[in-house]
Amino acid sequence: MRVGVLGGTGPAGSAVAVRLASAGVEAVIGSRSADKARDVVEELRHRWGGRSLPLVAGDNSSAAEADLVVLATPWEGAVTTARDLAAELSGKVLVSMVNAMARWGDRFVPLLPPTGSVAVAVARAVPGSRVVGAFHHLPAGPLGDLDHELRADVMVFSDDRAAGDEVIALIGKVPGLRGISVGGLGSGLAVEALTAALVEVNRRYKTHASLLVTGIE
Ligand SMILES: NC(=O)c1ccc[n+]([C@@H]2O[C@H](COP(=O)([O-])OP(=O)(O)OC[C@H]3O[C@@H](n4cnc5c(N)ncnc54)[C@H](OP(=O)(O)O)[C@@H]3O)[C@@H](O)[C@H]2O)c1
Repeated sequence: MRVGVLGGTGPAGSAVAVRLASAGVEAVIGSRSADKARDVVEELRHRWGGRSLPLVAGDNSSAAEADLVVLATPWEGAVTTARDLAAELSGKVLVSMVNAMARWGDRFVPLLPPTGSVAVAVARAVPGSRVVGAFHHLPAGPLGDLDHELRADVMVFSDDRAAGDEVIALIGKVPGLRGISVGGLGSGLAVEALTAALVEVNRRYKTHASLLVTGIE
């Protein structure tokens, strides 16, 4: 399977790409600029020189041609990015990891999109795609550090149960991660908004917190 990452040059998208690549999944780092993507892939190859990671650079359009695509842009650009690539994304699983938040004084707070969540806004922009939400709570630093041992659950939500299961299976390829279904796109509001609270945890305790759900064998 080949996974494309839109906005894959940022810390979050490149971390997802590098982790999946470390699990043997070919990952295309996409960007609005193919040159920028090439530079990022070169940096990642240099950083992880000892490992032969299956990473490819491309523009967002070529990343959208992958079998499964991850949307990793800031919230301001998420809907436009997906909509511009609606044809390439048609029929595919599109994973939104996008959180909408802002700084309010010295705190981070969630922003509530009129659709309730960014994932729903993206799903409306690309009705031909199978939109899934995942990866919102994984801090990019530890995720992108292949020397860091992960132990986290990833909340996965989608109105398309089979698409959600595909993403849970993909997450399961990464040692230390477990995908947990938390329902349909309506859960996006809770999942995305919780991220701002986790950012506050990180600031307060000077850590990189993630979540573990208890009670599921
Ligand atoms: N950082 C984290 O720890 C983390 C963890 C989980 C989820 N997330 C979520 O993942 C997303 C990406 O986070 P990030 O920290 O990697 O963000 P970022 O660095 O600000 O942006 C990621 C990439 O998106 C592209 N981009 C920037 N503005 C854009 C726009 N207006 N339209 C289209 N593309 C644009 C840029 O790539 P090009 O210039 O190369 O196109 C940029 O490198 C966010 O929605 C965030 O909430 C972040």
